[in-house]
Amino acid sequence: MCGIIGCVLKDDEAVPVLLECLGKLEYRGYDSVGIAISANGIKVIKDQSKIHQFAKNPDLNELSGKSGIAHVRWATHGTPIKENAHPHTDCNNRIAVVHNGIIENFKELRVELQNSGHTFTSNTDTEVIPHLIEKYLDEGQNLEEAIYSTTQKLKGAYALAIMFVDEPNKIIGIRKESPLIVGKGNGENFLTSDVSAILSHTDQVIYLDNMEMAILDGNGVTIKNLDGDSITKEIHTIEWSAEMAEKQGFDHFMLKEIHEQPNAVKQTLMEADEINNIIKKFPKFNKISFVACGTSYHASLVGKYLFETLTGVPTDVILASEFEYSASTLNENTLVILISQSGETADTLKALRIANKKSHTLVIVNVVGSTATREADDVIITRAGPEIGVAATKTYVSQLTVIYLMAILMGGNDDLLKTLENMPDYMEEALKTEDQIKEIAGKYSKKTDFFFIGRGYSYPTAIEGALKLKEITYIHAEGYAAGELKHGPLALIDDDVPVVAVIPPGISRDKTLSNMEEVKARNAHVIALGSSADETLKSESDEFIGLPNEINEMFSPLPYVIPMQLLSYYISVERGLDPDKPKNLAKCVTVE
Ligand code: AGP
Repeated sequence: MCGIIGCVLKDDEAVPVLLECLGKLEYRGYDSVGIAISANGIKVIKDQSKIHQFAKNPDLNELSGKSGIAHVRWATHGTPIKENAHPHTDCNNRIAVVHNGIIENFKELRVELQNSGHTFTSNTDTEVIPHLIEKYLDEGQNLEEAIYSTTQKLKGAYALAIMFVDEPNKIIGIRKESPLIVGKGNGENFLTSDVSAILSHTDQVIYLDNMEMAILDGNGVTIKNLDGDSITKEIHTIEWSAEMAEKQGFDHFMLKEIHEQPNAVKQTLMEADEINNIIKKFPKFNKISFVACGTSYHASLVGKYLFETLTGVPTDVILASEFEYSASTLNENTLVILISQSGETADTLKALRIANKKSHTLVIVNVVGSTATREADDVIITRAGPEIGVAATKTYVSQLTVIYLMAILMGGNDDLLKTLENMPDYMEEALKTEDQIKEIAGKYSKKTDFFFIGRGYSYPTAIEGALKLKEITYIHAEGYAAGELKHGPLALIDDDVPVVAVIPPGISRDKTLSNMEEVKARNAHVIALGSSADETLKSESDEFIGLPNEINEMFSPLPYVIPMQLLSYYISVERGLDPDKPKNLAKCVTVE
């Protein structure tokens, strides 16, 4: 949800370096893009375009400087037009600001500033920030004081990178709720929303906490607290390599990340000892609540079935955006498990803060150092590596792996560990369906509605399949518990609505097969996923995707999601879309 980057370098390469880093942040927003460079004044170039188009702007060739700030936008306030693109400046072009977050009280601030003579050129919430800094500078404050005074006026969330014409080659960053990370390189220092943007420059980072200010200049980096005192912060070494954030020969990040899933599960399985250490310290909980959004919510649903089956502890699953309305029964006997790929999702962070007040909290997160990892009581890191495609794939199976490990270890069912360890091999088998799925995608890519059905452990797989299809193909898709179809949605089924039926071997197989027959009786085309030994399913479905018979229902969410992801991916490509950058969406949703 917007990506910001700033750099202070030892040579005049700020433009190419910022463009390169911006490319890595594009998953955070791609409505518009902009850059400001300090070179005999502040020069701003911005446009409503994708980064690769923007990089061809001949005006950029005229720009050269050691320091600059840049931004990719995912619009919240103000349509995605050039005027609303960042950086935003004050009345006299002396201050430039890039912002990730939302300023909730911007309307009042804007009126106040306009009444005192400030002129605005955009409809964004962000533009009040350079004007406020301008106001405080005019009142005689120095730059740092003016930035602190400005933040005192702002309500909402922000990560800011700021330049001032009188102090060239200095970039100041400050954050509240939105992520901002300092990268310390060799004679080059960075501010970034996400470490993956700077991996080719440095692996040394400092995670800024709320209201800490980072000052980057020719001398290095200084971090100050709200009182203006310099503070010492821990420098972390990032384990991800620059190569991990590249496409490595795949057409899209999403396809690469789908193929990385067996390895993501293997890497995450290595966290078993760490997970065991965490759960050994737990007191006895009488309730578990999972809290998450989107795909992470679907992983949580698998968690409900698993925890109730393997630990016997009553478990519920709550959408993070609904959590504040249903948190009244929280107490110290509840374990709240929040799942988030990014660790920065605003809804999940809000739920975490509510839960922290009353219960023990555990977060399952992919991004080391993200806000969630710094606020929860316990943290488990999924070892998926950087996920760039907006549609979550390998982080989903890594989240599932942590959930399986936790449920197995907490329930004392260690004999199931061997079954879990076999899953990467079955996932490799599932990837072999790729050519068949590409063909199916070709046949069904022009449909306008899909249903995905499953029962028990296959219900989350069905709704995750539907979410993937909606996200990257823009086809309307409904994920449904198979048994619920007859309570309404069956009215929508006809020969033009394909139904994807998830039917692994297990106790739910016969009933879901009956539900499949019900949609067939309404002339639906059925794409079925099941055991390759299931002859009935094979003969009854229009398209049959067979997976190894050894995969039982309980573990099916791991391999069975792969054909779902591939189906959405190939339909998206077939429709001429970019699966990595679906319209209206961003990878990391830092607004409520
Ligand atoms: C998944 O494909 C989506 N992009 C989205 O639903 C995502 O899972 C959701 O926004 C939650 O993000 P998080 O895991 O980073 O908290």
